Amino acid sequence: MKPTLTYNNKQYPLDTQKTLLENLESQAVPVEFQCRDGYCGACCSVIESGEVNYQTTPMAYLRDKEVLLCCSKSTQSITIKSK
Ligand code: FES
Repeated sequence: MKPTLTYNNKQYPLDTQKTLLENLESQAVPVEFQCRDGYCGACCSVIESGEVNYQTTPMAYLRDKEVLLCCSKSTQSITIKSK
């Protein structure tokens, strides 16, 4: 089964090579972002289920369950909500 990205209750195909932000952009989903580099926190969202990997440790402060869409990828299906 192909992995999916569920964002605000809508399901999209997940490209595991792309960041979550790039995945949403490729589906024309409007997402807030600024730096695209893990420090401004504008793209911060909440993980409802699933796990992400960061290429480099993000600079922005994250609470439990929060994720930065611009610099994280997932290898499995994931469910996220905007804040
Ligand atoms: S866009 Fe700035 S942290 Fe993601």
